[in-house]
Amino acid sequence: MKILAIETSCDDTGIAVLDARKMGRTGHCLQPLASVVHTQDIHANYGGVFPMMAKREHDKNIVPVFEKALKDAKLFTPSPFGHSPFAGGEKTKSKIRKILEKDGQLAEAFVEIISKIEKPKIDAIAVTVGPGLEPGLWVGICFAKVLALVWDLPVIPVNHMEGHVLSILLQKDNIMPKIEFPALALLVSGGHTELVLMKDFGKYKVIGATRDDAAGEAFDKVARMLGLPYPGGPEISKLADMERKNLIPLPLTKGEAGRGSIGSDPSSILPLPRGGKTQITLPRPMLHSKDYDFSFSGLKTAVLYLLRDTENIPKEKIAREFEDATVEVLVAKTMRAMKEYKAQTLIVGGGVSANMYLQKTLKNRIKKEFPKSALYFPTKGLSTDNALMIAIAGYFTTLNKGIKKSRSLSSLKANGNLGFHS
Ligand code: KG4
Ligand code: ZN
Repeated sequence: MKILAIETSCDDTGIAVLDARKMGRTGHCLQPLASVVHTQDIHANYGGVFPMMAKREHDKNIVPVFEKALKDAKLFTPSPFGHSPFAGGEKTKSKIRKILEKDGQLAEAFVEIISKIEKPKIDAIAVTVGPGLEPGLWVGICFAKVLALVWDLPVIPVNHMEGHVLSILLQKDNIMPKIEFPALALLVSGGHTELVLMKDFGKYKVIGATRDDAAGEAFDKVARMLGLPYPGGPEISKLADMERKNLIPLPLTKGEAGRGSIGSDPSSILPLPRGGKTQITLPRPMLHSKDYDFSFSGLKTAVLYLLRDTENIPKEKIAREFEDATVEVLVAKTMRAMKEYKAQTLIVGGGVSANMYLQKTLKNRIKKEFPKSALYFPTKGLSTDNALMIAIAGYFTTLNKGIKKSRSLSSLKANGNLGFHS
């Protein structure tokens, strides 16, 4: 089946088309036909995402993203009459306007594009309904509703976090790997940090979660304290890596320490023998707690105090120690859960799963301590928010539960705090 998926839960407007089919008795082939993601850089100036600003950006960008996705998937066919038959239906148009009434110009932009094209060969629409920022979620949901109305298609509501878990099913060869259960998923994003036990597809139990900030959020906030742009994860990671390799920008005299660490003139970056270890120490919150919960707010505050109380600490030292501390806690709890639940598979998903130091540490530990267990990370572009993972989750939802075409569109609602169901 071909699924068109929509993702608008945070600051990425994503639309993807996936062609998914069964292969053999238990396998599946997942072929991406298109995946367009528009990342809203407007938030970079503020160091975080403002929900209403994100909503306005989704409103503005969703039609161009939709058009590009259809074109990439070769499903954009201009109507031979210059307009599709529905265009004459004033009743449909007024329904569209009603559904999109809170979305300014979106209704007009939608009617304009949809009138010009033929209905493509798509079997269902999948859309993120939560968790996330509700104003943005509503843009995607309303867009799914009007598409479903015009093209007479069923809508599959998708949990964004399930999307992150299932994102790993799309590997380079498009053949879905066989997942051995029980599986453990470490989900690390800007909004969530969770350890999820998975007994089967669709059967999830959250065994631990952050009590305050998410891991990605802590990366972003610490980056902001260090004067690095948003999103902070990749920036911190680059600096930490330089420190690990002893590639410190010169000169490091008093008053200049840490200046211009990223993007500075490469000729000023020299390998320095600095003894390898960082001299500053940050806490490892909840490392030894018996549960599987996390807490990153204290770690972030410790960085704040360190910057307040100590002069001229090179940024790269803080970045490295912060990354070391975060990864140490994430990995320690994950390893303990692997052992307790005898997990056969470890899945890592969410924006922070792109972190190379986390990947390397987990690879080493799994190889050493659980050599029989499989370890999966999302392939490039699937760690951070995208609609392809929503399409994959939509596909597995239909396999588990079937598609309820009769379900009324009005029952589709955004739920910012949507949790895992089982
Ligand atoms: O999953 P995602 O795209 O959005 C949410 O659902 O929240 O995750 C975004 C988060 C941001 O906090 C970003 O800083 C973090 O993922 N991130 C990283 C890396 N790449 C993205 N954190 C650490 N290292 C990275 N390489
Ligand atoms: Zn996400």
